[in-house]
Amino acid sequence: MSNSDQPAGQAVPVITIDGPSGSGKGTISQALAERLGWHHLDSGALYRLLAFAALQQSLDLADEAALVALAARLSKCYRLPTAGEPVICLDGVDVSDALRTESCANAASRIAAMPRVREALLDWQRCYRQLPGLIADGRDMGTVVFPDATLKLFLTARPDVRAERRYKQLIKKGIEADLAVLVREVESRDKRDSARKASPLKPAKDALIIDNSDLDEADTLRQVLEAAHALL
Ligand code: DC
Repeated sequence: MSNSDQPAGQAVPVITIDGPSGSGKGTISQALAERLGWHHLDSGALYRLLAFAALQQSLDLADEAALVALAARLSKCYRLPTAGEPVICLDGVDVSDALRTESCANAASRIAAMPRVREALLDWQRCYRQLPGLIADGRDMGTVVFPDATLKLFLTARPDVRAERRYKQLIKKGIEADLAVLVREVESRDKRDSARKASPLKPAKDALIIDNSDLDEADTLRQVLEAAHALL
């Protein structure tokens, strides 16, 4: 799969949705992709998958060269599912739930701070740019991966609101959780993702910023759809 497979002269539109964990960008991106009939790239899942595979192979998470080599191997054989509820398999095993754990998120955040790891994931992410269009969600979709995107959105919410959303998700799945611990984890991950030198979490200069601390999912989606329809 490569962008050069597209018919000549057809630009593939991209909408980027960046933001911190718990901002609802995953759910909103998926809903938007379904409404528009476009592909969806959950770039965080690629970082999580790489971290998970590295842990599974007992790689040292500080060994940048080994992570780059692993990313190259994974990108050759691995494609994220693009529609519906994503089931992510690694070597034939469903790892969807394992990728959503806090320990995997923290490992992903650590390796995502390494410039060569980010570079190794660039082409892999850009492969998802396919007609009729792509919704790409992550941290640097609008700033680095798709700087020419048609529309750039940045979703955010207060850290306590985001931690509480995560808490409710975990409890719903029957997983024990401690809200105070989640608030601390959200804050420290935000700090690491925003403070890193390589592609830090920040809105693109031309991004529309939506703070949805006091909005529900339907209202957030309505605002996002309005912005999309105004441009497409
Ligand atoms: O969106 P997420 O929570 O699944 O992402 C997991 C980690 O991966 C997050 O801590 C930061 C990193 N990430 C990133 O640095 N750049 C992206 N485009 C997506 C995720």
